[in-house]
Amino acid sequence: MVKALIAPSILASDFSKLGAEAHRVFEGKADWIHLDVMDGHFVPNITMGPPIIACLRKSVPKDPKNPGKYFFDCHMMVSKPEQWVEPIAKAGGDQYTFHFEATDDPLKLIKLIKDNGMQAACAVKPGTPVDVLFPIAEYLDMALVMTVEPGFGGQKFMADMMPKVDALRRKYPHLNIQVDGGLGPATIEAAAKAGANVIVAGTSVFKADSAEQMIEMLRSHVTL
Ligand code: DX5
Ligand code: ZN
Repeated sequence: MVKALIAPSILASDFSKLGAEAHRVFEGKADWIHLDVMDGHFVPNITMGPPIIACLRKSVPKDPKNPGKYFFDCHMMVSKPEQWVEPIAKAGGDQYTFHFEATDDPLKLIKLIKDNGMQAACAVKPGTPVDVLFPIAEYLDMALVMTVEPGFGGQKFMADMMPKVDALRRKYPHLNIQVDGGLGPATIEAAAKAGANVIVAGTSVFKADSAEQMIEMLRSHVTL
């Protein structure tokens, strides 16, 4: 069965001290850290790429005895997802989430991601119907239902995306289902009720007085 996983989005952190910010949320019991890679083409914003992720990996190094620790969840908002698989794997990515809208051959891309030693995930933008994921779901480690238009943190949660989450959860009881955008105290219940178990939270966690308390609160709502 799937379990609750809380993934603070580093996009809402202080980029001048990324390592310290990552440590802060991992000490607050974050399961994963969510890294938003934007290329200024697939989305109208530019953030970070493999060199920054490689630096961050040095700050939170992998422990061979505990490979699930310090998990880097890379959300690739890029036009050519095939191009960045190897560089992201080399930089220390654990999971590679491509956008369905950005590729012509999702199955080939999933294979490439797995051949590079990462988990494979696929995201859909708000305007993309969830059934595009059905033919590829059995090959995925996670599906991401965007709850904002990708590109910026701090946007309003789109509750009308919840039927997509619900449809996925009914079909795939064992699949990690992630929601991303606008998650916090006012919206977690709707997302959890629809069946999401992987919760991305940028603003709500990084701007909270206590990241640990916010993470704990989000986790307490996810009951699967
Ligand atoms: C938006 C990004 C999100 C964003 C979430 O394109 O994919 O991960 O950082 O930020 P909040 O939680 O502030 O909406
Ligand atoms: Zn994201």
